[in-house]
Amino acid sequence: MSRALHRVIVVGHRGMLGRAWCQLLQQKAIAHRGVDIDELDVTNPRKVATISGYDTIINCTGWTNVDGAEDYEAEATKLNGDAVGYLAARAKAIGAALVHYSTDYVFDGRAASPYPIDHPRDPINAYGRSKAVGELQLQEADCDHLLIRTSWLYAPWGNNFVLTMLQLTKEKDALKVVNDQRGRPTSAQHLASVSLQLLQQGESGIFHVTDGGQCTWYEFTRKIAELAGHDCDIQPCTSAQFPRPAKRPAYSVLDLSRTEAVVGQMPEWKSNLKRVLNHRDAEDTEEGRNHG
Ligand SMILES: NC(=O)c1ccc[n+]([C@@H]2O[C@H](COP(=O)([O-])OP(=O)(O)OC[C@H]3O[C@@H](n4cnc5c(N)ncnc54)[C@H](OP(=O)(O)O)[C@@H]3O)[C@@H](O)[C@H]2O)c1
Repeated sequence: MSRALHRVIVVGHRGMLGRAWCQLLQQKAIAHRGVDIDELDVTNPRKVATISGYDTIINCTGWTNVDGAEDYEAEATKLNGDAVGYLAARAKAIGAALVHYSTDYVFDGRAASPYPIDHPRDPINAYGRSKAVGELQLQEADCDHLLIRTSWLYAPWGNNFVLTMLQLTKEKDALKVVNDQRGRPTSAQHLASVSLQLLQQGESGIFHVTDGGQCTWYEFTRKIAELAGHDCDIQPCTSAQFPRPAKRPAYSVLDLSRTEAVVGQMPEWKSNLKRVLNHRDAEDTEEGRNHG
């Protein structure tokens, strides 16, 4: 049965995905309110219990500092795990649907073919463990929900790989990028749009939503530089040559078949990347005009 959205709350609206959601709801003229930590700290159950008058809760909060989670796993778990339980309990109490986001990092990265939605969770770092706690909390609360796993998120705003690499490939003559981690980049605007379709079509349970196709970080960077016209010598390297506090899964490709059966084929990552870079160029031009 389809869902009608009349009043939506976007929690974590200043984040990368939260901003994409608010922009989309604005475009679709769906009544919504965005809140962030200063107004509604989701790790505080008393605050979460004040949410009322909404038919849909979109949870865009998250501890997204993967390396930082290694030293602060308890804090990461409060936000990525316990808070999801509070939001799910509240959604159930007020009869709202909850959309929550999880990650490819709940899997171990040892697979050789895309991870199906029901593959056992086996995270290899603290961030992945904290997100797996959130998934369990959501499923145990048994509220009306969409649990959407995504990966390698980027947008024309926020802190993300695309914006970092745009800057680095512009400034540097040469760059080494890891070529032994494979996954699926995801435009936050595309993710919000597919999430809305799933929600409105009355879907529930686990869905994987990413851009189509797959690549390594090295291949992703080469395309970013090529589309931006940056003349930087980009060379492949291994994860061992670029050690980080948190281990990364080597193979992070999420299987999209359940999602594609409902909303059609996901656009290839190269075309979504082109769209996001164009959007950014348009915003830069607009900004220039406003300051000119
Ligand atoms: N980024 C990725 O590559 C990626 C990949 C897979 C899955 N995901 C998942 O997708 C979701 C959205 O990610 P994102 O990259 O858009 O996140 P983000 O840009 O880091 O935004 C998170 C938002 O949550 C807010 N927040 C933090 N603690 C909060 C609290 N206690 N109460 C209320 N709000 C709080 C943040 O506010 P402040 O900025 O003020 O702290 C920020 O506005 C997350 O669940 C993430 O785990 C992300």
